[in-house]
Amino acid sequence: MGGHTVAVIGAGKIGELMLSGLLRSGWPVERLLATARRPARAQELTDRYGVRVVDNLTAVTEAEVLAVSVKPQDAAALLDEIGPKVPADKLVISLCAGLPTAFFNRRLPEGTPVVRVMTNTPALVDQAMSAISAGAYATGEHLALAEEMFSPLGATVRVPESQQDAVTALSGSGPAYFYLLVEAMIDAGILLGLPRQVAHELIVQTAIGSAVMLRDSGEHPVKLREAVTSPAGTTISAIRELENHGVRAAMLAALEAARDRARELAAQAD
Ligand SMILES: NC(=O)c1ccc[n+]([C@@H]2O[C@H](COP(=O)([O-])OP(=O)(O)OC[C@H]3O[C@@H](n4cnc5c(N)ncnc54)[C@H](OP(=O)(O)O)[C@@H]3O)[C@@H](O)[C@H]2O)c1
Repeated sequence: MGGHTVAVIGAGKIGELMLSGLLRSGWPVERLLATARRPARAQELTDRYGVRVVDNLTAVTEAEVLAVSVKPQDAAALLDEIGPKVPADKLVISLCAGLPTAFFNRRLPEGTPVVRVMTNTPALVDQAMSAISAGAYATGEHLALAEEMFSPLGATVRVPESQQDAVTALSGSGPAYFYLLVEAMIDAGILLGLPRQVAHELIVQTAIGSAVMLRDSGEHPVKLREAVTSPAGTTISAIRELENHGVRAAMLAALEAARDRARELAAQAD
């Protein structure tokens, strides 16, 4: 692994997750480059990871793989700068939410392979969910290389690009929904008279235990929930309130809103 030099272009939060994950997985630091807009950020990356921070055009020349991790609204300006200089045999990996690979291909030399990846912040603890799609000129080999880079950060799945906005709404933003639920449940614990720290510990471990059960038991979530829901018991009383308050409908509406926002961001970036 690590035969290619990878440049993380615009190493902010997600770019840093990628750098640190690749390093943890044994990717040689001399095969990594990063770019940043502010000198202070560049210094931070060098201090933290020993990675060489270069300007965007040097990264384009030196790296075989360009992982673009700027905000979607900054992507057009970045591609105006580097697009014409990217040799068509480089692999461009986009981590930008919402932006179709066609957005990149319109600004890159004809035939440049682009792979779109939607990862998420649990990459920080090697528990990311990364969904990978091929653009028009990306081959199986390019997808395999992207998988090689993202599998040390967690799970990977290949999806058709048409599903990426839905992926963004589900797993890209997903950690935030779980954090919000945990936050609300801790508040509930406090309402019921538990000390904050105890409520926190109870709910975080319950979240971890439930997640491992979901992953390892192979059971449908309905089955797992039914196993905790005894007739006329406490859980069903809580479930009735969750249904009364439309939690399920709220989830459907929320994810639809996230999907629509991904589409809006792509339209604005163009
Ligand atoms: N955060 C998430 O949970 C998440 C999840 C999945 C996907 N994503 C996607 O990942 C991408 C990055 O998000 P983020 O949260 O990591 O944003 P971020 O922290 O703002 O990182 C973007 C970085 O790119 C730098 N930058 C912008 N234009 C540049 C240029 N022309 N040359 C060099 N560097 C440049 C920015 O510099 P400054 O510091 O000067 O602004 C910033 O450090 C987004 O497209 C987002 O959709 C994010």
